[in-house]
Amino acid sequence: MTILDLKNLSYDYITKAGAVHALKEATASFETGKVYAIVGRSGSGKSTLMSLMAGLDVPKNGELSYLETSFSALDRDKFRREHIGMIFQSYYLLPQLTALENVELSLELAKYKGDRRKRAEEMLSLVGIQKEQFKKRSTQFSGGEQQRIAIARAIATDPEIILADEPTGNLDNENSMNVVGILVDLAHRYDKCVIIITHAAEVAERADVILKMNDGILQAESQR
Ligand SMILES: Nc1ncnc2c1ncn2[C@@H]1O[C@H](COP(=O)(O)OP(=O)(O)O)[C@@H](O)[C@H]1O
Ligand SMILES: [Mg+2]
Repeated sequence: MTILDLKNLSYDYITKAGAVHALKEATASFETGKVYAIVGRSGSGKSTLMSLMAGLDVPKNGELSYLETSFSALDRDKFRREHIGMIFQSYYLLPQLTALENVELSLELAKYKGDRRKRAEEMLSLVGIQKEQFKKRSTQFSGGEQQRIAIARAIATDPEIILADEPTGNLDNENSMNVVGILVDLAHRYDKCVIIITHAAEVAERADVILKMNDGILQAESQR
């Protein structure tokens, strides 16, 4: 099922030195149940594309749709809260909070109606954090564990779309593969649409579809 559709997206940054054409007519569509890798050199426009998909910014030209509804007809903040989970290279956990509290807080911010404690515990278990560790402060975890906690936080409200910007950029190979394994599972077992920006060939290899970004131009590279 197509969940996100991008048509001819362009985006410019206006700087003192002039306009930077960060995205040029990007067109793509994304389905649930699949893992997408977006690859390309630094500065090619990957993060810009992701911030448009998250509804954090609006394109200069072109259109995005979520389940055939144009973003221009959506409350983008509400859309992001309900349907998007984001993961970054730096995990952005709150250092003064425990693993459990980090996940619970995001549920609270999202006005999650159910039992927040129970949901947070389930999500941490899903990403392989042991129960005995739930009340440890987030800074006391390894990088790989922190990224897994960040994933638990991102998926707690059950968004259909997971956007991950260089999620393994700070991790060694073993932890990278562990994190990517979780992301692949989210797509293949839980029917999420998982979109991963990555520099790592071994991460891109695990994707169902690879999209290449080259100087603001997006190309479908391969489909398995
Ligand atoms: N806030 C900004 N102001 C001006 N230029 C920016 C800004 N953010 C990104 N850019 C420029 O836009 C282009 C695309 O950047 P980005 O989307 O971050 O690429 P990537 O994520 O692939 O490294 C680059 O030329 C970058 O320098
Ligand atoms: Mg980037």
